[in-house]
Amino acid sequence: MQHQKVLVLDFGGQYNQLIARRVRDLNVYCDLKPCDMTVEAIKEYAPIGIIFTGGPNSVYDENAPHIESAVLGLGIPVLGICYGAQLIAHTLGGRVEHASVSEYGKREFSFVKLSPLSADIPEKSVCWMSHTDYVSALPQGFETLASTPTCPVTAYGDPQKRIYGVQFHPEVVHTEYGNKLLENFLYRICGAKGDWTMKNFVREQVARLKEKIGDRRVLCAMSGGVDSAVAATLVHRAVGKNLTCVFVDHGLHRKNEPEEVMSVFRDGLGMDLIKADAADRFLTKLRGVCDPEKKRKIIGAEFIKVFEEEAKKIGAVDFLVQGTIYPDVIESGKGKSAVIKSHHNVGGLPSVVDFKEIVEPLRDLFKDEVRRVGTELGLPEGIVWRQPCPGPALAIRIMGEVTCEKLETLREADYIFRDEIAKAGLARDIWQYFAVVTDSKTVGVQGDFRTYENVIALRAITSVDAMTADWARIPFDVLEKISNRITNEVKHANRVVYDITSKPPATIEWE
Ligand code: XMP
Repeated sequence: MQHQKVLVLDFGGQYNQLIARRVRDLNVYCDLKPCDMTVEAIKEYAPIGIIFTGGPNSVYDENAPHIESAVLGLGIPVLGICYGAQLIAHTLGGRVEHASVSEYGKREFSFVKLSPLSADIPEKSVCWMSHTDYVSALPQGFETLASTPTCPVTAYGDPQKRIYGVQFHPEVVHTEYGNKLLENFLYRICGAKGDWTMKNFVREQVARLKEKIGDRRVLCAMSGGVDSAVAATLVHRAVGKNLTCVFVDHGLHRKNEPEEVMSVFRDGLGMDLIKADAADRFLTKLRGVCDPEKKRKIIGAEFIKVFEEEAKKIGAVDFLVQGTIYPDVIESGKGKSAVIKSHHNVGGLPSVVDFKEIVEPLRDLFKDEVRRVGTELGLPEGIVWRQPCPGPALAIRIMGEVTCEKLETLREADYIFRDEIAKAGLARDIWQYFAVVTDSKTVGVQGDFRTYENVIALRAITSVDAMTADWARIPFDVLEKISNRITNEVKHANRVVYDITSKPPATIEWE
């Protein structure tokens, strides 16, 4: 079954992936594509509606992105957001002007004319603005639908042509009825049926994978992270025993992680899952190494070596499964920025595996959709809601040399941190949280004795996409409990500190 599709044309604004996620959350499939897509390509894509995103430009900038006016003559409903709204007005002969001051933040606005876009939204509500340019005159046939005292054309449209523009950002949570507005556009204007659900996705993907793979052989590197877990489970549901998974136990996982992976996937689901016990190899290679980049490179290279050895034992396969998700697909289409840290992912695997084709069953999904698919497949919460864990795992959360003793200290401290956050009901509000063993030792007094032990740092952040992050405001009483438990229950830890740095200037991980 082919589902309905909405096209989100990306004009470079910071909330663009968020728009696509909101549309998907409303059960309508959409793709985020570069704004220079041609009319022909758009026709071929056959969307039920098009959304123009915001962007950093002014329509009058020399290199500002534009659209072919024919896009607006296709008879397909269009919603322009911020820059997108200005661009529609500009393209169809309206006027856009530059304000002397930018408007940024929450604003109350009023609908001045009813239209399908404003259905079930109160006449007055709050929206989120972030702009300098504004639409000062509308093209022929268009009407003002909403305004604020400072922005006369806050929303406009032509219900006949089904083309609309909003100056504010309906996709951000600060716009009270933003979701409702997007829903109105999709369901009342574009005629969406809501056919994008994770139940449908699982059914379609399993059928597609069955057809593609048939009775041929598939190999998957299982990291324990949510992406590879969900990808492997989908493939397993489609082809069962034809899938072999390899889990490399490098001895750097969090407490109970390897056990959980084996019990869920091998014992629970009956997957053909091989565990490569390589902890000693990794620890030997890491002996005496303190430099973060060296640690990352050593772990990345050793991981590939171990995997290669396992793959050789398995022999030639037809397919290699990768847990690529939609943001990776979008990002890979963009330019590369400076390397801050050398990330270790399974990207290096293809060169060491004898296979014919890569299967990426999650390449159309955002992270939250991957989690929903995981739930749909019956995976336990601990796997579905697992936080992102860097490939080099605990090795980059131990400052300086990685030793068995420090690993043990970190595992226990990290476990207590996670346990208390879960008990406080904060697990889903905090994007990522973990403990770090710093390379400082301090003096303490425990049970009348002087101690000289490690300082444990706690790191917890909120974020949308890990590109920027803010430190999480964990209540003091929760921090107090965590600190008490760590200093009482964990060996070789006598002090706990909380990291209150955002990204930038810090990064999320310490190394
Ligand atoms: P940083 O520390 O760069 O982290 O702010 C951003 C996000 O990426 C994760 N991270 C990694 N993920 N391989 C991964 O797959 C890696 O080598 C790696 N290093 C950092 C980090 O946990 C955070 O979510």
